[in-house]
Amino acid sequence: MITIKVFENYDELSAQAAEMFKEVLNTTENPVLGLATGSSPEGLYKALVEMHKNKELDFSNVSTVNLDEYVGLSGDHDQSYRYFMNTHLFDHVNIDKAKTFVPNGLAQDLEQEGKDYDQRIKDLGGVDLQVLGIGSNGHIGFNEPAEKLVLGTHVEDLTESTIEANSRFFETRDDVPKRAISMGLGTILDAKKIILVASGKSKAEAIASLVDEYITTQVPATLLKLHPDVTVLVDKEAASLL
Ligand code: F6R
Repeated sequence: MITIKVFENYDELSAQAAEMFKEVLNTTENPVLGLATGSSPEGLYKALVEMHKNKELDFSNVSTVNLDEYVGLSGDHDQSYRYFMNTHLFDHVNIDKAKTFVPNGLAQDLEQEGKDYDQRIKDLGGVDLQVLGIGSNGHIGFNEPAEKLVLGTHVEDLTESTIEANSRFFETRDDVPKRAISMGLGTILDAKKIILVASGKSKAEAIASLVDEYITTQVPATLLKLHPDVTVLVDKEAASLL
């Protein structure tokens, strides 16, 4: 079931997302957090770092698994998702980096890497709280609109619209990797609780597709309707077509 909450602005929705993380961290013995990168969760991570500084949050028992990583980028490339996580969150809190996992985009055998990643999540006991962003085409993780979607962690070809959207972070459009390794819809839906954060007009159409009675693999996020506990936190612009 999806619950949508609309906030005045991005800071307010980020603060609410952080409160929901705090709740899980404070009530779970060895919490496993599913994390996303991109612009949408930046405010959440900033708020979590702030809470940690104020001694409200302890990350010493936390494990994390990220949704995705570009194929071909090493963890120290400044556009890799490992680098993003280190610089936006892990470097600023008391987390044991050995317990932070991001798919390895340099793995020789990417198919095996996907299988091992799903097994790792199972071994950790599953994800307690997963945060997601959403693409303007409705992708979650890098599960792009398609006739069929993949259940497990796997390699995806990025669509032109995603390459275009992500080119803002690279020097030229040609520098944007064309493939990513991403949790699949099955992996994502296995999380016990999911929060999706979105802001801005470009997300309005994708957000509107979360409230009708349809699911379609052409808008992967609509499959979240099958999950029992999803909270969507949006600002007014992202909510403008609701
Ligand atoms: C990132 C991810 C993507 C983004 C989505 C939105 O780990 O999985 O699905 O959440 O592309 O990106 P932003 O937040 O930059 O608009």
